Amino acid sequence: MNTGYRVAVVGAGAVGVEMIRILRERAFPISDLQVLARSDREMVVDGLTYPVRTTTEEAFAGVQIALFAGTEGEKGAAVTFGPAAVRHGAVVIDNGKDFRMDPKVPLVVPEVNGEDVEWHEGIIANPNCSTVQMVHALKPLYDLSPIRRIVVSTYQSISGSGAPAVREFEQQIRAVADGMNMPDYVHIPAQLAQNVLAGCWTFLENGYQDEEWKMILETHKILHDNQILISPTTVRVPVIAGHSESVYIETERKITADEARDALSRFPNIRVVDDLLGGEKNPFARSCPTPLDAAGGSDTLVGRIREDPFVPNGLLLWVVNDNLRKGAALNAVQIAEEVVRRNRLIR
Ligand SMILES: NC(=O)c1ccc[n+]([C@@H]2O[C@H](COP(=O)([O-])OP(=O)(O)OC[C@H]3O[C@@H](n4cnc5c(N)ncnc54)[C@H](OP(=O)(O)O)[C@@H]3O)[C@@H](O)[C@H]2O)c1
Repeated sequence: MNTGYRVAVVGAGAVGVEMIRILRERAFPISDLQVLARSDREMVVDGLTYPVRTTTEEAFAGVQIALFAGTEGEKGAAVTFGPAAVRHGAVVIDNGKDFRMDPKVPLVVPEVNGEDVEWHEGIIANPNCSTVQMVHALKPLYDLSPIRRIVVSTYQSISGSGAPAVREFEQQIRAVADGMNMPDYVHIPAQLAQNVLAGCWTFLENGYQDEEWKMILETHKILHDNQILISPTTVRVPVIAGHSESVYIETERKITADEARDALSRFPNIRVVDDLLGGEKNPFARSCPTPLDAAGGSDTLVGRIREDPFVPNGLLLWVVNDNLRKGAALNAVQIAEEVVRRNRLIR
């Protein structure tokens, strides 16, 4: 009888902590859990103490599933240790951007393209948080009629930049409240408290931010359709948890708002928050999901579903979820569940 899998979580920051929480929450079968980061210490998550060890290649001996939530780039955790973990026999599920567009690496949102787990060669990538929630909400609509065009603006919370950025944002809020000078900009490039930043990611030569370009490429890969015209604008807003997105789509045939509500409400892990509230003052008032509604939860919330009065096949949506959970840690754990369910462990 299988008593559980040997799991490693690499990274003990915003996403790593959430991974540990979600593994427990979903009762993922684990016989041994290692938490690896850049230094030895202890970490407490929901009252339980976990030893944290310095990441080394040898630490992956015997590990079957390695969930990476470390840094990105050439010297980052996934590039440095991911291939070694695979050599030791682990399936690597990486949250960063390093492997997402590698043609040998599936990029997976389980509700959307869980079957792509089948062709992994050791590494599976988790998409960027802003992509995850958009494709999750769009898949049931795409199944009704192929999507030809997407125009999306994001309202992204600061936890998307990691735990140190959240601490810096809290210092900024205190500075504003106390009338003090702003702390140095270390993890956030400008004042976010009482502000909105539409240009705080790395700019590319074409004028887009890398966060926007990721949404284009990743959506094409996940939906297996690189013909979709995608125009994103990514924006950081003064919110700690939960990303929101205003999404406009044009489909091949018209999808009515009612048809969309019905398809979305039947899709796994989506909750439609778009009820007619009515009332004397405003008979057309509807409920609308907020980042606070989504924070700490597992569903992607969809509201403000309405038809475009000017474009025959146009539809608008408001999509919200917890970026640290479905946008990162939860999606990664769901990928691990998919790997186990499909019997695609290396050993
Ligand atoms: N936050 C989000 O919403 C989100 C969403 C999607 C994807 N992601 C991606 O997920 C990853 C983690 O993000 P985060 O927000 O959790 O960052 P974070 O809060 O800054 O935490 C990063 C963690 O990685 C560890 N680490 C860094 N370099 C390492 C190395 N070379 N070897 C081992 N561990 C290393 C750090 O260790 P120490 O604690 O010892 O310094 C820290 O615990 C990033 O790639 C990020 O882009 C984040």
